[in-house]
Amino acid sequence: MLKKWTLLVLTAILHLHCVRPLDNGLGRTPPMGWLSWERFRCNTDCKNDPDNCISENLFRTMADIVVNEGYANLGYEYINVDDCWLEKERNTYGELVPDRTRFPRGMKALADYVHSKGLKFGIYEDFGNYTCAGYPGIIGYLQQDAELFASWDVDYIKLDSCYAHPVEMDQGYADFGYYLNRTGRPMIFACSWPVYQIYAGMQPNYSSIVRICNLWRNFDDIQDSWASVESIIDYYGNNQDAIVPNAGPGHWNDPDMLIIGNFGLSYEQSKTQMAIWAILAAPLLMSVDLRTIRPEYKAILQNKKIIAVDQDPLGIQGRRIYKHKGIEIWSRPLTPLFQNYFSYAVAFVNRRTDGTPSDVAVTLKELGLTSPTGYRVEDLYEDVDYGILSPQTKIKVKVNPSGVVILRADVQPDFDRRLSYYSTTQKTVFDPLNQIFRVRNNNEF
Ligand SMILES: *[C@@H]1O[C@H](CO)[C@@H](O)[C@H](O)[C@H]1NC(C)=O
Ligand SMILES: *[C@@H]1O[C@H](CO)[C@@H](O)[C@H](O)[C@H]1NC(C)=O
Ligand SMILES: *[C@@H]1O[C@H](CO)[C@@H](O)[C@H](O)[C@H]1NC(C)=O
Repeated sequence: MLKKWTLLVLTAILHLHCVRPLDNGLGRTPPMGWLSWERFRCNTDCKNDPDNCISENLFRTMADIVVNEGYANLGYEYINVDDCWLEKERNTYGELVPDRTRFPRGMKALADYVHSKGLKFGIYEDFGNYTCAGYPGIIGYLQQDAELFASWDVDYIKLDSCYAHPVEMDQGYADFGYYLNRTGRPMIFACSWPVYQIYAGMQPNYSSIVRICNLWRNFDDIQDSWASVESIIDYYGNNQDAIVPNAGPGHWNDPDMLIIGNFGLSYEQSKTQMAIWAILAAPLLMSVDLRTIRPEYKAILQNKKIIAVDQDPLGIQGRRIYKHKGIEIWSRPLTPLFQNYFSYAVAFVNRRTDGTPSDVAVTLKELGLTSPTGYRVEDLYEDVDYGILSPQTKIKVKVNPSGVVILRADVQPDFDRRLSYYSTTQKTVFDPLNQIFRVRNNNEF
C-alpha cells in the first residue's frame, strides 16, 4: 500500500514536472472564501428583496461577517462575486459596466472595501458570448477585460463557459490566462473549461489546464441537496485515476462550493461534505447566508482540524480506497512525514439509508498505514484522542447514516517519543475480547 502511494506521488510529481503547472505564486493551498452563487443565485430584485439581492451591500455585509465572526482567522480569505453583477451592455468604450443601481460605487470601490478588511476580492465572467445568466461575456475583449479587472484590483477570476464552443476553450482560456499574466497583477484563475468539454463528449487536456488555471471545475454545479453532494462524491471517486494526479500546490480540482448551513443538507450530511472536500484538497468556498447560519453549521465550517487537512502543504489530493455495501473509506496523505511514511486523514462515509449507525472495523495496516513507529490518531469532529496506535491495531468506528467519521493519523517520529507520549496521553484501551481499540472509561487504567 505504501509503495503504491509513493509510486502515485512520484508519478504525479514527474507528470507535473513535464507539463510545468501554472506558477503565479497563488493558491499554494486550496483557496478559501465566500462565493455568492449557490445561495444567492441571480437575485437582482433589490426593490423587493434588498437584503438578499446581488449588490455591493451583500458583499460588504459578508466581508464584515467573515472578519468579525472568525472565518478570516481560519483562512477564509476571498469574497467572490458570481454572475449577475453586470449591466446588460458594455459602454461606448467597449468596457464592462457593473450594474449601476446595485453596484453604484463600482467594482474598484467594492474591491477597496474588501481589501480594507484584510480580505481579497474575486469576480465572475464567462469566456463565451454571454455569461450563463445572459450578461456580456468576454469573447472578443479578452485583453481589455483582463486589464479592466487588474485596474479594479481584482484578486481572483472565475471564468465560466456558457455560450462558448468547447473546441475553442483550449485556446481561449490560454489566451485569457496570458492576458491576466501580462497585467502584472497576480490573480487566481478559476476555470470551468474541463466540465464544458466533458459535457460535449471531449476529453479535457489536463496537462494544458494545469499550466493555465489555479483551479478548475470537473463536474456539475452543486445544488442544495444531499443527492447533489453524493453525485459529486461519486464523480471524484469514480474518476480519481484521471483527476487526482492533476492536483497540487497552485492547481486544484474544484468540486464546487460548500453548501453547509443552507436548506438541503442535514447536520450529518454537512459534516460529510466538509470532510470529503478536505480529503479532495478542494477549494473551500462557502455559499451560505452568514447572517443567519445556525451555530452547529458554523462550527463545521470553522473546524480547524479539518481545515488543516484541506490546507495541508503537500497538496496531495486524497482518494477513495474502499467502497462496499454503502460504506466508503477515503484517505489523504498529509504532513508530517517520517522517513518514507506519510501521515493521513481517513474518512469513513456511510452511504446507507437504513437508519442506524454502521460499524466499521479495520486495522491501520489495512488502511495503508504501516509505519512501525506508529501513528497518533484523533477524531476530527469528536473530541477523541486514540493515542498512539501501531499498524496492527484494529480501530472501530460507528458511522451515522449519510454521515462521516474523519480521523487524522500522524506518523510518529521515533520510538522514544512514542513511549513518553503514550504514557501521558493515551486515552484508549485495547479490548482483547473484541480485538478493537476503544475509548478508555474514566475509571479505567
Ligand atoms: C458567439 O457569437 C458569434 C458571433 O455572432 C457566433 O459566430 C458564435 O457562434 C457564437 N457562439 C456561440 C457558442 O453561440
Ligand atoms: C506570469 O508568469 C510568470 C511565468 O510563469 C510568473 O513567474 C509570474 O509570476 C506571472 N505573473 C503574474 C502576475 O501572474
Ligand atoms: C495538450 O496540451 C499540451 C500543452 O498545451 C500540448 O502540447 C498537447 O499536444 C495537448 N494534447 C492533446 C492530446 O491535444
